[in-house]
Amino acid sequence: LKHLQDLIEKGIASFCQELPSQPENLYSPVSYTLSLGGKRIRPLLALLSNEMFGGNPVEALPAALAIEVFHNFTLLHDDIMDNAPLRRNKESVHAKWNSNVAILSGDAMLVKSYELLSKIKSPILSQILPVFNKAALEVCEGQQYDMAYEQGDFISIKEYLNMIELKTAVLLAASLEIGARIANANPANAQHVYEFGKNIGIAFQLQDDLLDAFGKQEKVGKRIGGDIVSNKKTFLLLKAFELANASQKIAIKSLLSSQQINPENKIKEMLSIFNDLSIRELTEEKMNYFFDQGLGNMQKIKLGDERKTNLISIAKSLMVREN
Ligand code: IPE
Ligand code: IPE
Ligand code: MG
Ligand code: MG
Ligand code: MG
Repeated sequence: LKHLQDLIEKGIASFCQELPSQPENLYSPVSYTLSLGGKRIRPLLALLSNEMFGGNPVEALPAALAIEVFHNFTLLHDDIMDNAPLRRNKESVHAKWNSNVAILSGDAMLVKSYELLSKIKSPILSQILPVFNKAALEVCEGQQYDMAYEQGDFISIKEYLNMIELKTAVLLAASLEIGARIANANPANAQHVYEFGKNIGIAFQLQDDLLDAFGKQEKVGKRIGGDIVSNKKTFLLLKAFELANASQKIAIKSLLSSQQINPENKIKEMLSIFNDLSIRELTEEKMNYFFDQGLGNMQKIKLGDERKTNLISIAKSLMVREN
């Protein structure tokens, strides 16, 4: 694992070094964001999948980096959309500079991600480009649902799951499929590893939602309670409303609609309802369900079990992460 992580960090570092210096407010937010770390889970999944199918990680690296740069681009825009002041324990780009800077640096990162991806040689490139494009567009679709749901009424758990599949899970899935295809995995196996990623990715976003409510700011690196403040229709909220008794339902509705209440109180009161209804445990149950689905997809991959252990253990560790 360490050798793959080193490969990724070195790749990110040299990507940052090669960025032009001018205009400074276009490029310095790019290296700022990428240098703040992050788990690098998507490039790691891409390289692990590549390795599992017998590929050479050095060949897959540009694609893995492309995905990480794309992911970081989405974070710049997401933090504007979510009004999030903090990312990786530092000011988010729009907070440190301004929204125009975050929009434009994000745009540049999107282009850069395609530049990286296009380092992969044909005929593989023509296989992975549609995978990347589909995931990238679906992320936009998911983000649009996420924003629309903030404003609207409650949605079904099914609608929520579709939203997080789009905004988050498909990019993890595509990372795995792209890594697999660069290793010349056969189409059936590439599809199984994609489905594995989708299920793991859904569990990953459920955990992200949990951490947003129950995590420690120093570890998560984001402002805790942001989802509650902005009325995000998370699994936590939807489940709570589903299980709430009459008076809890009234309390939840009034927290969602109140213009006056200060954010700290809103977070505190919502968390206390979540706690009363064991929402944390119920969310973890749901995560486990999707994790198990993912394991099922993994079992369908026609490779020896010993080849699969790295990916499975990474996926396991994601389910208990604190950041
Ligand atoms: C955050 O992604 C956005 C989501 C899709 C949940 P990560 O949790 O992978 O963030 P970093 O890259 O590790 O900071
Ligand atoms: C982010 O979901 C999904 C994308 C960035 C596409 P969130 O809005 O929950 O991610 P965080 O919590 O800000 O990292
Ligand atoms: Mg968001
Ligand atoms: Mg966000
Ligand atoms: Mg979140």
